[in-house]
Amino acid sequence: MTTQAIEARYGELATSDCCLSCGTAVGLCDAKPGQVCVDLGSGRGTDVLRLAEVVGPTGHAYGIDVTDAMLDQAQKTAAKLGVTNATFRRGTLEALPLPSDTADWVLSNCVLNHATDKAATWHEIARILRPGGRFVVSDIYAVGDIPDEYRNDAAYVAECWAGAVSRDAYLGHIRGAGFTEIRVVEESAPYEKGKASVASFTVSGRKFERCCF
Ligand SMILES: C[S@@+](CC[C@H](N)C(=O)[O-])C[C@H]1O[C@@H](n2cnc3c(N)ncnc32)[C@H](O)[C@@H]1O
Repeated sequence: MTTQAIEARYGELATSDCCLSCGTAVGLCDAKPGQVCVDLGSGRGTDVLRLAEVVGPTGHAYGIDVTDAMLDQAQKTAAKLGVTNATFRRGTLEALPLPSDTADWVLSNCVLNHATDKAATWHEIARILRPGGRFVVSDIYAVGDIPDEYRNDAAYVAECWAGAVSRDAYLGHIRGAGFTEIRVVEESAPYEKGKASVASFTVSGRKFERCCF
């Protein structure tokens, strides 16, 4: 699916102050000074800048986003605040612009539903996490079926509902990427968004750490 529709929608929202989140992923992240955090679909950069403060000068926070206007906005805010341990990079969820085994934490808020290939996205998350690293992701899932006419329409996907998959499929993608300790830590009641019934949840998990025997 083209990213043009994503860039068109989120380019317009880059300088607005409307809430684009659907959970409290960053608040549930227990990053420590010196660690490396990555926020996928970092938008205006608020969560990355918060994480940069938590991990301090010996750590680093990365924001990955596909919309140039969002990256510009985030970089401007970082510069204004004098934040030097945050980096914003252009990239897509299915091909993250970071080396393997980089991150102690991967965060994301209301983004992964946009991914064209959810399985590839979760494998990318597993790739960039260090063994034993953790993710906390807030997102939406579909409560009923989303007809193909909406699912295949890039503009509806960019509206943050038509790309949603079922709760079972969502957790299946996470399991399929080899994660352990998978927990749903918060979850909403179903609500209507666009032309679909969806719910929001926050899921955490850990990359398997191979032991030494
Ligand atoms: C709903 S906003 C959420 C922004 C931010 N996480 C927040 O909570 O404020 C979705 C963000 O994900 C980005 N995005 C959507 N699809 C993406 C993709 N395939 N790859 C990278 N970023 C994507 C958009 O550009 C946008 O900044």
